[in-house]
Amino acid sequence: MSKIIKNIFVWFMVVSCLLLPVLSYAATGDTTSNLWPWYITRASGLVAYILLFFLVASGVGIKTSWLFKFISPTFAWINHRYLGIALSAAVVTHLISLLLDTYLKFSVIDVFVPFVSNYKPLLLSAGIIGLYILLVVMFSSLVTINKFPKAWRLLHYLTYPLFIILFIHGYFIGTDTKFIIIKLIYLITGVIVAWLSLYRLYFFYKQK
Ligand code: HEM
Repeated sequence: MSKIIKNIFVWFMVVSCLLLPVLSYAATGDTTSNLWPWYITRASGLVAYILLFFLVASGVGIKTSWLFKFISPTFAWINHRYLGIALSAAVVTHLISLLLDTYLKFSVIDVFVPFVSNYKPLLLSAGIIGLYILLVVMFSSLVTINKFPKAWRLLHYLTYPLFIILFIHGYFIGTDTKFIIIKLIYLITGVIVAWLSLYRLYFFYKQK
C-alpha cells in the first residue's frame, strides 16, 4: 500500500513540475529574459486551476461512487488526497513567483490582503479570497475530518464556490486566456464542473 501511495505522490509531483516550465515556455517562447517569475506565476496558476478541476471531479466521483466503476475506492481516495497536496504546491509556487516578480512588483500585503493592490483589484482579490477558502478546506480536511465529520462536510461544500471564484480569477486576469487552447481548457473544465455539480445535487436529493 505504501508503495502505491509513494508512486502516486511522485507521479503528481513530477507532472506538476514538468508542466510548469513547459507551460512557461509555451506561453512566451522566451527563456532568457528576467521575466521568469512572471511566466512561472502564469504557468503555476494554470497548473493549480487544472489540479483544482481534477480535485473537484474526483471528489464528486467518490461521493457519488461513479469513479469506482473505473478505479478502486482506495486508489480514488489516495488520488484525491495527493491532488490536494499537488494543488497546494502549485499555489505556493504561484505566490512565491508573484513576490519575486519585478514586472508588477507586488508587496506581501498586495498578495495576501484583498482590495489593497491597484492591479485589477476585483480579479486579484478573487484570487486572494480563493486562497483563504482553499486554506479552510485543506486545513479542515487534515484536522477535523475524523473528529468533526459534520463540520468537515459542511466546510467541504465551500469547494463549489471556490471553483467559481478561481475560475473567474484565472479566466479574466490571465494573460494566457488570449490563447484559444487555454480558452478551451476553461470552457471544457467549467462545463464539466457545472454538470458534475448538478449531478451531485441530484444525488443529494435522491439520498434523502
Ligand atoms: C488560490 C489559488 C489560486 C489559483 C488556483 C490561481 C489561479 C490562477 C490562474 C489560472 C491564473 C491565470 C494564468 C494565466 O492564464 O496566465 C492566475 C493569474 C494570476 N494570479 Fe492567481 N490563482 C490563485 C491565487 C492567487 C493569489 C492569492 C494571488 C495574489 C494576489 C494571485 C495573483 C494572480 C495574478 C497577478 C495573476 C495574473 C498573471 C497573468 O497576467 O497571467 N493568484 N491565477
